[in-house]
Amino acid sequence: MFVIYDIYLRWYDLALRAINFEVYGSPRKDSFQNLILSGMGGSGIVCDMIYSVLYSSSEVPVTIVKDFQIPRWTSKNSLLCAISYSGNTLETLNTVSKALEIGAEVCIVTSGGKLLELARVRGLPHIVVDSGLIPRAAFPQLLIATLKLLSIYGINLCSDLRSLISVLRDVEPISKTSKELAEFLKNSLPVIISNMRFYPLAMRFKDELNENSKMMAKVELVPEWAHNDIVGWELPLNIVKSLVIWDDDLVIEFPIDYLRCRGVDLQVLKLLGDDLLSKMLYGSYIAGLTSVYLAGLHGVKAEETKSIDEYKNFLRVRFP
Ligand code: PA5
Repeated sequence: MFVIYDIYLRWYDLALRAINFEVYGSPRKDSFQNLILSGMGGSGIVCDMIYSVLYSSSEVPVTIVKDFQIPRWTSKNSLLCAISYSGNTLETLNTVSKALEIGAEVCIVTSGGKLLELARVRGLPHIVVDSGLIPRAAFPQLLIATLKLLSIYGINLCSDLRSLISVLRDVEPISKTSKELAEFLKNSLPVIISNMRFYPLAMRFKDELNENSKMMAKVELVPEWAHNDIVGWELPLNIVKSLVIWDDDLVIEFPIDYLRCRGVDLQVLKLLGDDLLSKMLYGSYIAGLTSVYLAGLHGVKAEETKSIDEYKNFLRVRFP
């Protein structure tokens, strides 16, 4: 099978190790007026998950940056948390430099590269995750490290990390569900539908299908879906299949009934877990394994992402 498959199979152990990662450095300030989460791709999805959990609990504004630029309102009272597995992603590095120029508080999660160098030189609070993994497959370590790092600023999203990661322990049923989903999605154009709370998981599913299975996929979020995209389904393409992420939320029932009535091939993914974060972690495991099984079915190499390398090389030449 693939190198990345072995990493996914070790998710529970990798997550367990992450619980004991050391937090280096301490905050310069204990309060801030806003939180900026910065990261791209497999690292950036952690930003989305944290954002979604904080959406209903944070008293300060939280924003996500997946770009070179930080918001105009960033100030010395902002906290920027940068996540980059390699530590060399130019977009993320740029946001860190800009935040430091302004005098904002910056903290970092990485496995190495320029970000680690910067964190050490500038004495920025940081956590170092295991090196030698593949960014998207390092997800449980990046997530847990970020939760730990944010807690030093009093942002407590999870009171029991062991219980959080327990959803990863039993690989067999997860693998079985993933194989069935891979069979279902094979040779299709998957449309992942969720409500707003679960948008990071819908995105994660799409990203995993893109990167590991080399497939195009689309994400639609209710209720916005019902104000535009829904009309496109009046004439659905026959390669489209839909995966709906279930939540106990009335609004998610509508697309399921609507699409079934129109004969769209659809499956509903129910998630294990006690809360939003554990459900998204569990769903991410299903997404990862499904995408690797699909890579096998499509005869492509899951770990290879030549097009991302091409883009990163372009950036290196254009922004040396
Ligand atoms: O999963 C991947 O390989 C990519 O999506 C990367 O995460 C993305 O290119 C950003 O790189 P990094 O995670 O090293 O910052």
